[in-house]
Amino acid sequence: MRRMWSKAAVVLVFLAACSPDLSDDEIPLAHFPDIRIDISLPSNIALASKGGVKELNEGGIRGIIVYCEDRGIYHAYERNCSYTPNQACATVNVDASRLYMIDPCCGSQFDLKTGQPIGGAAWRPLRKFEATANGSELIITETIIN
Ligand code: FES
Repeated sequence: MRRMWSKAAVVLVFLAACSPDLSDDEIPLAHFPDIRIDISLPSNIALASKGGVKELNEGGIRGIIVYCEDRGIYHAYERNCSYTPNQACATVNVDASRLYMIDPCCGSQFDLKTGQPIGGAAWRPLRKFEATANGSELIITETIIN
């Protein structure tokens, strides 16, 4: 009987260690004017083709990461990490591989197509803003779509 209790305790400790910390703060709300990006400009060439990605230092709380899934299909993510977002270092970057986003502070990783966490402590997705392509112009608004 005693052995059974100790096994149960081990299982409980294991489950507690693997569960996400659901008590952390949410990403603060951001208000910003529409961001208009001319994709035809050489400075925005990264966004002109499928798989392109660019870090912006404007919009959101800590800037925005824009990802071109395909021609005319864009995703815009808040750069404030979704896990412990109030930490000074909680800013998400594009990984050097250009294949995912990463918070170098604690190592949480996020999918470029969905903004969902794919590694590390984060359990919420990154906040996603409305991003609409209109010809060569890409417009990102403060409207949250996730
Ligand atoms: S601040 Fe988000 S994982 Fe580190």
